[in-house]
Amino acid sequence: MKNKFEKNILCIGAGYVGGPTMAMIAAKCPQYKVTIVDINEQKIKAWCSDNLPIYEPGLLDVVRTARGRNLFFSTEIEQNIREAEIIFVSVNTPTKSFGEGAGKSADLQYWEKTARNILKASDSDKIIVEKSTLPVRTAGAMERILNSNDKGIVFDVVSNPEFLAEGTAIIDLEYPDRVLIGSHETERGRQARQEIVDIYANWVPRERIITSNIWSSELSKLVSNAFLAQRVSSINSISALCEVTEADVHEVARAVGHDTRIGSKFLHASVGFGGSCFKKDILNLVYISESFGLTEVADYWESVVRINDYQEKRFVLKIIRTMFNTIADKRIAMFGFAFKANTGDTRESPGIYIARQLLDEKAHVIISDPQALQNAQLDMAGIPGKIEYEIDPYKAAEGAHAIALITEWDVYRDLDYKKIFASMEKPAFIFDGRNILNHQKLYEIGFNVYPIGKRALTRI
Ligand code: UDX
Ligand code: UDX
Repeated sequence: MKNKFEKNILCIGAGYVGGPTMAMIAAKCPQYKVTIVDINEQKIKAWCSDNLPIYEPGLLDVVRTARGRNLFFSTEIEQNIREAEIIFVSVNTPTKSFGEGAGKSADLQYWEKTARNILKASDSDKIIVEKSTLPVRTAGAMERILNSNDKGIVFDVVSNPEFLAEGTAIIDLEYPDRVLIGSHETERGRQARQEIVDIYANWVPRERIITSNIWSSELSKLVSNAFLAQRVSSINSISALCEVTEADVHEVARAVGHDTRIGSKFLHASVGFGGSCFKKDILNLVYISESFGLTEVADYWESVVRINDYQEKRFVLKIIRTMFNTIADKRIAMFGFAFKANTGDTRESPGIYIARQLLDEKAHVIISDPQALQNAQLDMAGIPGKIEYEIDPYKAAEGAHAIALITEWDVYRDLDYKKIFASMEKPAFIFDGRNILNHQKLYEIGFNVYPIGKRALTRI
């Protein structure tokens, strides 16, 4: 069907990546028609309302700029595939939970199903863009499935990994450090790649659009996330050392990060990293390395995940040991459950592990979070124990023996901790899993304060 638009772009998968990315393309390129489809009807309904299915600062404004003009949301997958010239695929690719590679390799069933749907519905050549993070060489497999048709249709598969971080998705999309587009180094491949370059060139400076071969592009996404996660695990491993010496992890990170060769970002010691990507992508890297017999390489990267597990475990053990080796029936208020601030996403959040462990110890857990309570309830569904959800941090802390701060939401920095202290059981403990609170001030109020990688301030 012809329409007034220069290009018909479709995105399959209206999640954390597909939704914001396509909304930005539509907002920046009114000359293209951008449609997003998803199998989840409820999600599509939410995208059409002002109550978007994901919380992301600034997203609603971008969506409103383009929705109904050149940005459309739909559950009509087949027809939209047929009409599209360029199809971004942004369905989820979780870690496999069964069979060969369980716990490490990616579950590609949604990707493959999507490829087959594309094949079935298409009646003209198309460019397929891998937006989901995938194991290296997936594009090749997809190409084989897609081009195994007797309709005479040719599909060019291009890799365009997304580097946005949740909570800052809009800024990351509007001013990306780089956009990466990988293709085959053939005439057709380069042409397909240029089509995608042309889309981003509408607002991204040309020198920030990097092109490469398709395997380099796929691998670069895994490696970028592995390097970022490695920095967090590196500083978290040092936080454990700081806690048993007189060193302060914040001071160490500042001194180390001032070296311009190292840089200051991603050196915040924490309760551990979460999110849908870090662990999954590292495990993918581990799996690929193992499958090529590169045991040392696999071990090296796996240790980044091991340190993260260790950091989460250490945090829980610290709570138990500090509170006289028993937390049974004690009320513990968790401030934050999202895997980072400014998102309602809880995938792989350290909060999940911590809450489970606290419940295992028979503690009474009160989870508070400004955006993530709905997801928290899904994560904790069916787990036995005393658990409450309370959006108001003051109410969550009422009568509590301890506060465990899990997410660095700004709102937790500015609470009236005198009032909170007065409402808590004594001795009152606070475990700052993000080092965002004023520890000295809390100590002066009367709290026993346990930061990460710093000396505890205690009265007991
Ligand atoms: C993305 C990437 O795609 C993933 O590879 C990366 O590791 C994490 O980020 P994300 O957008 O966060 O995934 O996933 P999610 O929010 O779960 O969105 C995926 C969407 O695809 C869901 O809305 C789901 O309903 C949809 N989907 C899934 C389809 O429309 N069709 C399917 O066959 C499968
Ligand atoms: C990450 C990558 O940054 C992004 O480029 C990619 O596209 C997807 O994966 P995201 O998972 O949204 O993005 O969040 P990110 O900001 O990278 O944080 C990941 C985790 O590391 C969070 O749990 C965060 O709290 C933690 N973290 C980050 C630390 O504990 N310390 C730090 O210094 C930085």
